[in-house]
Amino acid sequence: MNIRPVRVDDLMGMQACNLQNLPENYTMRYYLYHAMTWPSLSYVAEDHKGRIVGYILAKMEEESAEGDEPHGHVTSISVLRSYRRLGLAKKLMVQSQEAMATIYRASFVSLHVRKSNRAALSLYRDTLGFTVKDIEKKYYADGEDAYAMHLSLKS
Ligand code: ACO
Repeated sequence: MNIRPVRVDDLMGMQACNLQNLPENYTMRYYLYHAMTWPSLSYVAEDHKGRIVGYILAKMEEESAEGDEPHGHVTSISVLRSYRRLGLAKKLMVQSQEAMATIYRASFVSLHVRKSNRAALSLYRDTLGFTVKDIEKKYYADGEDAYAMHLSLKS
């Protein structure tokens, strides 16, 4: 399995992977916006035939009204079912986090995750060291709450 930065011709494969894995789906324009604006923050995992089996879609957030410093944000990550528990998501996260810190000087990375998503929660909290900053009530379209999670990128 190979992990590399996203290219524009990967976006259809990323979208297909997202549609299989998650109910949160995005327009092609939104994928393109990420890939064109922050090309070093999104990555794909491909099999030996070059098929996309996992991806991370990430961006930078500017300084916010709440006083947050510029920081990275993981919009979406997923891995096809038969390629899970091989360490791909961890590698995708670490690659993107490293680029956020070194290229954009991000001080932390944020993301949202469903309260019921045990696999992703374990990846973020237990494997990568994220902490829960807040609970956002009814964040998702179906009414489920989200954990807003953060990880400091300051060494
Ligand atoms: N149950 C418990 N812990 C898990 C699980 C699981 N099913 N999957 C991963 N983990 C934890 C473990 O600690 C694991 O380490 P270990 O295998 O040494 O025990 C660690 O995370 C790293 O696992 P990876 O192999 O890197 O994770 P994987 O490549 O399987 O991908 C992911 C994890 C992305 C959550 C995958 O299950 C998936 O695609 N799920 C559906 C989509 C999804 O929920 N995406 C996240 C939504 S939130 C967002 O996008 C910001």
